[in-house]
Formats: sequence, C-alpha cells, structure tokens
Amino acid sequence: MKVKREKVISINSLRGGTGKSLIAINLAFLFAKKGLNVSILDLDFRAPTLYTLFEGELQEYTTNDFLNNKCSIEDVLVDVSGKYKLKGRLFVGLADPSLEAIHDMINKDSKWEMRALQRLLSLKSTIRSLGLDYIIYDTSPGILYSSINAAASSDIPILVSTVDNADIAGTRRMIKEIYSALEKKVFVLLNKFVSREPLSESGWNVIIRRFENTLKSRVIGIIPCFCDVLEVGYQYIFALNRPEHPFVKNLEAVAERINSIK
Ligand SMILES: Nc1ncnc2c1ncn2[C@@H]1O[C@H](COP(=O)(O)OP(=O)(O)OP(=O)(O)O)[C@@H](O)[C@H]1O
Ligand SMILES: [Mg+2]
Repeated sequence: MKVKREKVISINSLRGGTGKSLIAINLAFLFAKKGLNVSILDLDFRAPTLYTLFEGELQEYTTNDFLNNKCSIEDVLVDVSGKYKLKGRLFVGLADPSLEAIHDMINKDSKWEMRALQRLLSLKSTIRSLGLDYIIYDTSPGILYSSINAAASSDIPILVSTVDNADIAGTRRMIKEIYSALEKKVFVLLNKFVSREPLSESGWNVIIRRFENTLKSRVIGIIPCFCDVLEVGYQYIFALNRPEHPFVKNLEAVAERINSIK
C-alpha cells in the first residue's frame, strides 16, 4: 500500500509579491498530477488569491468560516480533480474575497487568533480522514498572526524570498527571531532570480550554498524570473498548460525535495 505523506506545508514570506500564491498553486497541481492527494487552503485573508483561479468554485463556506468555527473543513473544500483530470485528488479551500470579510479578519483579537490556531492544528486529523498527502497553506506576507499561526501548525514551513538584499536580510531576521522561537526548521525557496548568464549545475550549487550560509537554513530551490510567467500571472496554471516550461521543471525539483523530507 502507498505510504501517505500526511504533512502540512505553509508558504510564507516577509515581503509581498515574492511568488507565494503562484508557487503554492503550481506545487498543489504538480503533486496531484503525480497521483498524490492534496488540499490547498487560501489563508491570505487580507488579499485572497485562489478565488481568481477557481471563481466558479466559490462555496457557501470559506476558510474564514472554518476559522470562525462556523463550519467544518469538509464544508469548505471543493474537489477539483475531475475538472482538471488529475491522477490524485485536489481539494481547494477558498478565502472570502469580500471587503467586509477582509475587514472582519483584520480586526480579530489575539484570543480569536489562539482559537484559530487550534482550528488549524485540528486539520492534522483531516489529513488522515480525507486520505491526504499534503495540505498547503497560502498565507499573507509579513508577520501577521494568521501567517505565523499557519507556519506554527505546519510540518514543512517554506519561506519564499527574492534574492534582493532587503528581502534576504528580512527573511534572515524572520528565521532568527520567529521561526527559531517556534522551533521550526524552515526551508527557503528563492524566487525570481535574475542571472546575467546561464548557470551550470555547479554554478547553481555555489549560489545555493552562499544563501544557505547567509540564511543558516536549507535552500530548497532557486527559481529564475521568467517574463512569460509574470505576463501570464493567474490566467492559467503553468503546471497544467506549460508542463515543459523551466518554471515548472524547477518546481518539479522542489516538489521532489519536499517529498524527500523525513
Ligand atoms: N519566477 C517568477 N518569474 C516571473 N514572475 C513571477 C515568478 N514567480 C511569481 N511571479 C509573478 O509575481 C507576481 C506575484 O506573485 P504571487 O501573487 O504569487 O506573489 P505572492 O507572494 O503570493 O504575493 P502576495 O504577498 O501579495 O500574496 C505574479 O504576477 C506572478 O505571476
Ligand atoms: Mg499571495
């Protein structure tokens, strides 16, 4: 019998626009294409993104309702594997994009956030009951309670950063001051890397080691910046529509490294 991974992956970053949502979505599709069962949850309550891709799938209940204790996670999840003809199952949980909901989530107090953390931790049993390999959390940038809760309740916390000096310095502080307090071993995914010339494998390895030394964390991948990825944005899913694109190939290598994490 196939062994289930049963792990929660959180995708965070210090600064906005590093590529969290695009990476989260494409990783989810790559895992499901390979036959793994995955759920992706939009936990970016300030600027929900997933609904733009799955507009027709907006349910009566959202991830907001789940954290507000108004429904179970099963009420939120939509199985989109049939629609996209995926080998594994892919369940999507959307956040409420209405301005009213965004305002409501911004004004939560720390007592609510503690209960929300309990709700997230309870998803561990959902992994088992739904037969999932992974739950992927897409989160808001920065050190909002909701994003830290997502990281705190995950098994594989991933921080996405560009290689911009300010981004790296901030990511390093975030690892040192927040993730070490959570006692989490964090994985860094460098995105939108711009190289003046094509790099050999050893060239890539040198760069990765340099960032690992600076960040004192494992770099799980380094993805170049692609103009066409920027241009397409959320119009379609690269992992499905452009499987040979180097953006997808790079993410496939990341997915394999995630699969090999014990
Ligand atoms: N490797 C890449 N090359 C080029 N463009 C990219 C790459 N990765 C992401 N992008 C683009 O960068 C923009 C921001 O990406 P995305 O929405 O995933 O960021 P985010 O971290 O989720 O943002 P936010 O913090 O606002 O939630 C999008 O237009 C996306 O298409
Ligand atoms: Mg996002």
